[in-house]
Amino acid sequence: MQAIRRLLNRLVGTRTLVTAASTMETRVLNCDPYSITFSEDGSVSISAPDTEFALRTASEILTKDKNVVVFPTETVYGLGASALDPSAVSLIYSTKGRPSDNPLIVHISSRAMLQSLLPPSYIIPSTYAKLMDAFWPGPLTLLFPANPDVVPSIVTAGHPTVAVREPSHPVARALIALANTPLAAPSANSSGKPSPTKAEHVAADLHGRVSLILDGGACDVGLESTVVDGLAADGHLRVLRPGGVTVEDLERVIEGSGVKVLVHRRDYKDEQQEAAPTTPGMKYRHYAPRSPVYLLMQTNSGSTDSKLGAEKVPSVREAITSLLDQLPCAAVGEAGARPVKVGLLSCPDSPLTAALGTPEYEGGDEAGLRVRVEWSRRALGALGEPSVTARVLFDGLISLDQEGVDVILVEGVEETHEGLAVMNRVRKAAAETVWVRV
Ligand code: TXA
Ligand code: MG
Repeated sequence: MQAIRRLLNRLVGTRTLVTAASTMETRVLNCDPYSITFSEDGSVSISAPDTEFALRTASEILTKDKNVVVFPTETVYGLGASALDPSAVSLIYSTKGRPSDNPLIVHISSRAMLQSLLPPSYIIPSTYAKLMDAFWPGPLTLLFPANPDVVPSIVTAGHPTVAVREPSHPVARALIALANTPLAAPSANSSGKPSPTKAEHVAADLHGRVSLILDGGACDVGLESTVVDGLAADGHLRVLRPGGVTVEDLERVIEGSGVKVLVHRRDYKDEQQEAAPTTPGMKYRHYAPRSPVYLLMQTNSGSTDSKLGAEKVPSVREAITSLLDQLPCAAVGEAGARPVKVGLLSCPDSPLTAALGTPEYEGGDEAGLRVRVEWSRRALGALGEPSVTARVLFDGLISLDQEGVDVILVEGVEETHEGLAVMNRVRKAAAETVWVRV
């Protein structure tokens, strides 16, 4: 029976993952985003039979089985369930091991679906209307007052607001439209791990815990949506989490309106928010792979953290040597043992990459590092390409982890454009920041 099902699955572009620890079979169904089109009235047509089969299967799991499905969005993969069904939403929390006090984003595919979640008398403020026109569908999440008769408190974790976004990925939009229900969906990773940007990341992490993963290829943005609260009495926009829509993008759209964009921790503090986990990483560990991550900052990087006098900052060699000496696996790199496996995520054109590319960093000789090192190097975007860095960051962290490196070093990037979100994630993933003089 299993063999026949596998054969059938293969014929419709399915992969089945079963492991010893699995409690259920996890199917991976391919979806071709280019086979999906939307008409003016929001109806969906799908030209590829495999994609249609995958989306209908997913829609049935959501609506008939009241269960969870993994689907691609333009930011990261999401673990979705009907946002209107508290017991389905509870499966999101249990599947991820997510603390129940961390609220979820609700994904919609039309403005009518948005209105259905809000108090009937609520009028969308003009600043929000501008942002929605500019960035929806896309990687921007906005906080709205929730209609408590419609949005279950398990979605909002008891907050009076609901976070909503309209994703632009055709597979996500088609799934929401076909299921005809808004989907609550966090990133499809075990709580605390980096967010998945490829179906195989999800399969490696959640196999046996979800019945279906829709594979729509690699996510384009690569890190999560920007979460914005524009509900404060002063009318300013507060960025709770930087993400795919940059602060510069937001400022451009509201320019001349007198509304300011305030970034949490950079431009304002909110102790109430720090106590509640409504912004990722405030209370819980986030984005951390198994291997310890160190953020490498250069003194000339212009970061606001650069309060150190240049003379106190160690050279790259001194810093890497002392960092490796501190590792629990330090003895590994000693003579006669295997080398320490070091994963490096850095910008291909940076001075740090050039410095770490010289032979002395292979280690083991008088001039070089004290221990022997085997490097596994991955390129972030070039210095002027923060959107590329955003796209590849989580894939880099996850794939280095899967490779079994002992430690991951990530080069700090400038905190402008997508670099702000990149550094937000890296700081939360990192055990420590190490300053180096290049
Ligand atoms: O790009 C994304 O946003 C992805 C994809 C799947 O859409 N989703 C995602 O969800 O990143 P999640 O659960 O990993 O992060 C949602 C963040 C959480 O940190 C949560 O605290 C915040 O949004 N959030 C949700 N509802 C909120 C609310 N009512 N007030 C304040 N923050 C809220
Ligand atoms: Mg997440």
